[in-house]
Amino acid sequence: MTQQALPLTDRLRGRDWLMTQDWADDEIDLVLATADQLKTQFKTGVQTLHLPHKTIFLIFFDNSTRTRNSFEAGITQLGGHGHFIDSKTSQIAHGESPKDMGIILSGYGHGIAIRHDTVPGEGQTYMREVAKWADVPVINMQCDVDHPCQTLADLMTIREEFGQDLRGLKIAVSWAYAPSYVKPMSVPQGLIMLMSRYGMDVTLGHPAEYALMDEPMRLARENTERSGGRFTVVDTMEEAFDGADIVYPKSWGPEALYGDPEAAMKVASQYRHWICDEAMMARAKQRAIYMHCLPADRGSEVTDAVIDGPQSRVYPEAENRMHTAKALMALTM
Ligand code: CP
Repeated sequence: MTQQALPLTDRLRGRDWLMTQDWADDEIDLVLATADQLKTQFKTGVQTLHLPHKTIFLIFFDNSTRTRNSFEAGITQLGGHGHFIDSKTSQIAHGESPKDMGIILSGYGHGIAIRHDTVPGEGQTYMREVAKWADVPVINMQCDVDHPCQTLADLMTIREEFGQDLRGLKIAVSWAYAPSYVKPMSVPQGLIMLMSRYGMDVTLGHPAEYALMDEPMRLARENTERSGGRFTVVDTMEEAFDGADIVYPKSWGPEALYGDPEAAMKVASQYRHWICDEAMMARAKQRAIYMHCLPADRGSEVTDAVIDGPQSRVYPEAENRMHTAKALMALTM
């Protein structure tokens, strides 16, 4: 007979997940403990039908591999259904308002998740407006400010590697060169906001043009003060990597140039040497791990030797996206 999972707590039922900063430490711990449990159950064939016949609407303003598929597979494994909505082929493209989306989709289902990440100043505001009118939980699948589903999976991966007490560990969040497209700012911003809560030494490295938004920087400083960690900004990848336990080099765009990709790429092309190769990895601790939210620009952000090498954790990190997405849906919907 197939084993069934025990019911979950109702403590977080109905809550929106818009920024990690909106949730208390013990609430994040509860989500991660649930993700651990769901991961074990997934691997041992225990059924986890916590959301039978429930629907989550997945609204995408941008492309996705991990986020879309982790939510769709995840909701299926929870007994529900993920309904994909492409902003370009829905009435959003004709100007349908976030208020209408929030009210109407609330009438059809049990949760709304949104990715709206490529225009600084828009995504988080759009989600908050949907959430204001929706009477089901709204989940941020990546906006201009934060990518809380990614950084939650990153925190899970880091704890799997280093344990629960992360105090004193150095994480290097560094800019890296990528020619493929102007990547959002929300992953580095999400990382500095979340990791600074755990007493870590968070070192942010980037060329002058790649300053992060003011509010995530302010929150990272405030969190650092509260947690007793360190938050430092440097202007070389080398300095960021020196003595690091975790390195997370990835590309993002200059805040003012998201509307002009050609100009953004011209700025980036000056910094082709910002690549994570084996020489760069050698500056970090011997046991350091390499992380990336993916997709990575191989040969530009990182060499194959590093991303496919023994220090890379990109695949467990990507897998944890599904376990954490399931935990968020199962606890809030
Ligand atoms: N890391 C991440 O969010 O991947 P996708 O863009 O493929 O969803």
